[in-house]
Amino acid sequence: MVEKKKVLSCIQPTGDIHYGNYFGAVKNWVDLQEKYDCIYGVVDYHAMTAPYNPTKLRANTWELIFNLLAIGVKKENLFIQSLIPEHTELCWIFNCFTSYGQLQRMTQFKDKSNDTGKGEDGFISAGLLDYPVLQAADILVYRADFVPVGKDQEQHLELSRNIAARFNQQVGKDYFVMPETLFTETPKIKSTADPARKMSKSAGEKHYISLFSEDARITKQIKSAVTDAGDTKVGEMSEGVENLFTILKASGKMEAYDSLLADHKAGALKYVDLKETVGAALVAQSTQFKAAKAELMQDKKNIKNQIKYASSEIRKRAQETLREVKDLAGLINVKAGQ
Ligand code: TRP
Repeated sequence: MVEKKKVLSCIQPTGDIHYGNYFGAVKNWVDLQEKYDCIYGVVDYHAMTAPYNPTKLRANTWELIFNLLAIGVKKENLFIQSLIPEHTELCWIFNCFTSYGQLQRMTQFKDKSNDTGKGEDGFISAGLLDYPVLQAADILVYRADFVPVGKDQEQHLELSRNIAARFNQQVGKDYFVMPETLFTETPKIKSTADPARKMSKSAGEKHYISLFSEDARITKQIKSAVTDAGDTKVGEMSEGVENLFTILKASGKMEAYDSLLADHKAGALKYVDLKETVGAALVAQSTQFKAAKAELMQDKKNIKNQIKYASSEIRKRAQETLREVKDLAGLINVKAGQ
């Protein structure tokens, strides 16, 4: 049997998932499970790098786990980062193979240390600077072949490869495989309230549509989506209208998509029709996810235990890597007889 290639990706526990996350990433996670050996993590240690609330962090971590399961991520593929201490252990080792200057030059560090990463008192944690090293550990601890992420993460992937190469060079062995970024064609969903920006939570409530919102709220958000001021010419499409078409296509409603697009080309498209169709498509999908989640929530305690168990199984892979890495790095292993 040919071994399947390994895919790894992680998401920070923000609790909610919106359609931008879903169509842009998580739906892809679900689909990749067919073809690859997939491991997906909810990375709670990463969420501590900016000021946060401990009670909320734990609640968000579980919330996200239940959301991911409801969407179709398989239980046995999911882990919680803080349940696998090898991530942080490898992070330390990697710190010693990482250039301090390169960390300071990371775009995400520069952006975040300028705004969201900062506390009210201007505090910037060393964790924020070190964040990409922990990310490299997440990836390399499982010796992942592919990492499906968006373009904004490419710089972190490059750093992971740099760390892997430096480690290999210093220990004189091609131990780590270079992880590749798996760029898949995923639609970029914009905010329906302001189609010039992407759908995101950080911009505020009206800028994202949660997958698990009440039907009425989803319908309302689509109904009030910005289209155009009635000044686009026949054949032209405003960003807002284009975004609605993108959502419709991503929802798989191709027949409706084709026919409404034909209307648009003919200059006969009524935006109410487009909005109604898009709203109905999202609501239909959301209904399914909400039902799946409600079922999981009935069995909350059990599911939590299953996720802890899955994490302990996934941990075994991480432990194997750490044993080998410690040997190569000249550290003492309890069992290796050195
Ligand atoms: N940095 C990623 C993000 O902000 C999250 C992340 C942490 C991640 N560790 C990872 C992504 C490992 C892929 C692989 O989206």
